[in-house]
Amino acid sequence: MAVKNLSGALKQKLIQQSLQRKLKQAEQTEGDGLLGFVSKPRQGSPRFDQHPGYKQLQILRQGAERLGVADPFFRVHDGVAGATTQIGGRSYINYASYNYLGFSGHPEVNQAAKDAVERYGTSVSASRPVSGERPIHQALEAELAAAYGVDAAVAFVSGHATNVTTLGYLLGSRDLILHDELIHNSSLVGAQLSGARRIAFAHNDCAALERILEEQRNNFERVLIVVEGLYSMDGDFPDLPRLIEIKRRHSAWLMVDEAHSFGVLGQHGMGIREHFGIDGRDVDIWMGTLSKVMSGCGGYIAGEQALCDMLRHFAPGFLYSVGMPAQVAAPALAALQLLKREPERVTRLQQISAYFLQQARSAGFDTGPSVGVAVIPIITGSSLNAARLSDRLFQRGINVQPILHPAVPEKSARLRFFLSCEHTRQQVDQTLAILREETAQLA
Ligand SMILES: Cc1ncc(COP(=O)(O)O)c(C=O)c1O
Repeated sequence: MAVKNLSGALKQKLIQQSLQRKLKQAEQTEGDGLLGFVSKPRQGSPRFDQHPGYKQLQILRQGAERLGVADPFFRVHDGVAGATTQIGGRSYINYASYNYLGFSGHPEVNQAAKDAVERYGTSVSASRPVSGERPIHQALEAELAAAYGVDAAVAFVSGHATNVTTLGYLLGSRDLILHDELIHNSSLVGAQLSGARRIAFAHNDCAALERILEEQRNNFERVLIVVEGLYSMDGDFPDLPRLIEIKRRHSAWLMVDEAHSFGVLGQHGMGIREHFGIDGRDVDIWMGTLSKVMSGCGGYIAGEQALCDMLRHFAPGFLYSVGMPAQVAAPALAALQLLKREPERVTRLQQISAYFLQQARSAGFDTGPSVGVAVIPIITGSSLNAARLSDRLFQRGINVQPILHPAVPEKSARLRFFLSCEHTRQQVDQTLAILREETAQLA
């Protein structure tokens, strides 16, 4: 019977009955479709092994198996990892540690952690506003502020969370975040959380940054430029004085993530600020981590009193997260004090890194744009070569991580060498000789 031939009331009733039938079907199938338009019934919970992430992992594992290379991730180290490390009962020359200045495992740093546990126990309970400060928090933050020559600093329990919560809190939907295209994931996640418009500029390209600012500045209330003090994939750094001049001219804020540059750049390891001889107050937001040179865990923001005050009171990653345990704050403070007392460690790191870079280049390796301080990539041309070389080096007593696509573009897959002031020239020579032999075997 065609619906169009029926009277109005009957038509209404039939439509209603049909809708009710479809609603009932939809409820029975527990689907999320509307009014019965459900593609297929679902049984049980969604499955993790059907998640795209898990499928991607399987593809990676199968690929490694086909190539006959061991999984280079999650290796179990014993003892203190620095210029050397112990894995599976064997000693390796190690280029996969952030122990740039050898502070992790240093007797004074270890002792500071032990003393803090004895005095404060292992937890400071809830967040610092709620469960209170410990003198060690205040001492660490005062030292950090002094290191930058700024009003104040605030320490967070995670470096990643420091960027997420700071960017997420400070910026909003009427703002613009401009960042180097190689910026760390933590800044990207923070920018997304903030709801601000986000635009990447070409790596270390101040002219490209300026072009965007000229076009866009007037469309936004606040603008924040985010860069790193030393890029952890390429081992190069930005032209900070020029960035300061640009941010002033365009009335923007400048944030510098010093995760890899503090303790590494500058004659006394005071970071990119010391390298360029600029005043700490010329950068609006200094960010750093306690997980690299400072041998612990956590992150910090340093800058104006108002900035730090605000973050301490309102940034969710501070306000709603546990206070830093004393045995994490104390060794970071001890490392900072050691850095001031023993700047020769920084000199040694800079010298051994420069030696590595120079020897690698003269052996014909492609070290990309690395300036030769702490982070030196050797570009292998493909993920396959990087994975194979890392595996071959591991078999010969050298631990270095491959960086594969999609972390970097396929043609710039690499081995990434993190240097420590405790590496010796003999270790560097041995490493490059073995790398030369193994690279020749690949050809
Ligand atoms: C540039 C940069 N920022 C932030 C972070 C996050 O720090 P963390 O690992 O201490 O959480 C890292 C980590 O390596 C980093 O390289």
